[in-house]
Amino acid sequence: MTQIVLRDVRKAFGEVNVIHGIDLVVESGEFVVFVGPSGCGKSTLLRLIAGLEDVTSGDVEIDGEVVNRVSASERGLAMVFQSYALYPHMTVYRNMAFGLENTHMPRAEIDSRVRTAAEMLQITDYLDRRPKALSGGQRQRVAIGRAIVRDPKAFLFDEPLSNLDAELRVAMRKELAALHGKLGGTMIYVTHDQIEAMTLANKIVVLQSGRVEQIGAPLELYNAPDNIFVAGFIGSPRMNILEATVEEAGAATRLRFGNATITLPAQASLAPGDSCHIGIRPEHISVAEPETADVIATVAYSEHLGGETYLYCDADGLPQITLHQTGQLPVSRGQQIALHFERPRLHLFGADGKTIANGVSQ
Ligand SMILES: Nc1ncnc2c1ncn2[C@@H]1O[C@H](COP(=O)(O)OP(=O)(O)OP(=O)(O)O)[C@@H](O)[C@H]1O
Ligand SMILES: [Mg+2]
Repeated sequence: MTQIVLRDVRKAFGEVNVIHGIDLVVESGEFVVFVGPSGCGKSTLLRLIAGLEDVTSGDVEIDGEVVNRVSASERGLAMVFQSYALYPHMTVYRNMAFGLENTHMPRAEIDSRVRTAAEMLQITDYLDRRPKALSGGQRQRVAIGRAIVRDPKAFLFDEPLSNLDAELRVAMRKELAALHGKLGGTMIYVTHDQIEAMTLANKIVVLQSGRVEQIGAPLELYNAPDNIFVAGFIGSPRMNILEATVEEAGAATRLRFGNATITLPAQASLAPGDSCHIGIRPEHISVAEPETADVIATVAYSEHLGGETYLYCDADGLPQITLHQTGQLPVSRGQQIALHFERPRLHLFGADGKTIANGVSQ
């Protein structure tokens, strides 16, 4: 079991600072997922942990030992990339065995490891094939198998499923979750995929421009984002974020947004004239009677999927509002509807982007 700790890790490529001081504890056996926009430093951070890049300052520790000067091969971690880079002229078996053959491990031990990993990944039937005779999902499993046979201290995955089609991704996602259950190893996983992040992670690290925005369990980030960036980044479709101005503050706080107003319990940090943002997720807006409406909007577009309905609504002075409900809603394009924002799920963010409230009382 392996704990990985980063202490004020920084990385510059030449003059350009890419990682700006990251502190992180990955507990033994944890499945930690890095998410963030393209270019925010996810792969760089993974490569710093793997030892494929040197830190500019700060420490990377594995099981309490600073490994800044330890080479990648001696850190004992296994990395699985998006492009699985199998050897085309070798069979699946040899692709998995090759790395171990170079360590002078006894043949019987290698054979046992390859067969155990193959069974776990359900590729035993393909051991004699070459990679070109495998599907993308099967190839990715071989790449993961190659990591498993090394019995690494931890697994580092950089978008391992992003070359697979949607259906295979879902299947492989489940297999990865099962694999983590079976192996119980420490895993760090980079993805762009919201569902992968939410379902696989014990802990998600949200990065932006080489800095940590928030670290937490998936539902912690979803329910209680620290700031507007995390609020907008976690959740699909995205949280609706509406600019607002404080009209009145006192016993209650009244906000104007577009042509609408909303009255909330008093928010001590907001004074008349302040700007702020209202955040409300698509699934926390309901279609209401006009008396309880927060906004009257016009349906610009609707998606009726049977089990669920998405509505995209226009209202004066506001960006398009997305609404998501389970079941079927009898509304269609052009119709005027009254939208109600569920108060316990309504978020408020200050002008600085920091969260003021995650949920207000009714
Ligand atoms: N070897 C390098 N030399 C110079 N700049 C680099 C190098 N590697 C990465 N960068 C820069 O560092 C930043 C972070 O890159 P990184 O690959 O870590 O991003 P990422 O979050 O993995 O993005 P993506 O989601 O697109 O894979 C980018 O601005 C990138 O251009
Ligand atoms: Mg990357």
